[in-house]
Amino acid sequence: MTESDMTGVMKNWSAQQIGSLRGKTVIVTGANSGIGYFTALELGRAGARVVVACRDATRGETALQQLRIDAPGATFSLETLDLANLGSVRAFASRFLETGDALDLLVNNAGVMAIPHR
Ligand SMILES: NC(=O)c1ccc[n+]([C@@H]2O[C@H](COP(=O)([O-])OP(=O)(O)OC[C@H]3O[C@@H](n4cnc5c(N)ncnc54)[C@H](OP(=O)(O)O)[C@@H]3O)[C@@H](O)[C@H]2O)c1
Repeated sequence: MTESDMTGVMKNWSAQQIGSLRGKTVIVTGANSGIGYFTALELGRAGARVVVACRDATRGETALQQLRIDAPGATFSLETLDLANLGSVRAFASRFLETGDALDLLVNNAGVMAIPHR
């Protein structure tokens, strides 16, 4: 059973507690590594159709293959998206709109932290 502490933050939560996301479409940016990879993995395992949005096609393809190994039966698709390039953002948005799918969840994960110089 999941407990909450005094601030309401859940303790002992695990991804197995994600409910069914069957029929949902999600986009995870920066999904080829780190937090984004595991977010895409668990949302896929929960049944969502996951758009794996990555800025580098080669790294994205490697991640896609690994996701399919880690979550056989889940639905992942790869799209290139460089959030530092507005042309890439617009092209990605156009391709997504053309699918006609509703977007149920956007995980804006991509980013950098602890940059050494401003
Ligand atoms: N890990 C932590 O302790 C921590 C703490 C606070 C906040 N965060 C935030 O959580 C997020 C994920 O962190 P992480 O530790 O999992 O980092 P990570 O492993 O370095 O992953 C970052 C992801 O973002 C992608 N990315 C970076 N710039 C991008 C751009 N311009 N367009 C598209 N994708 C881009 C990277 O792609 P490439 O592989 O192509 O570089 C990579 O897939 C980040 O936003 C980070 O700031 C993390």
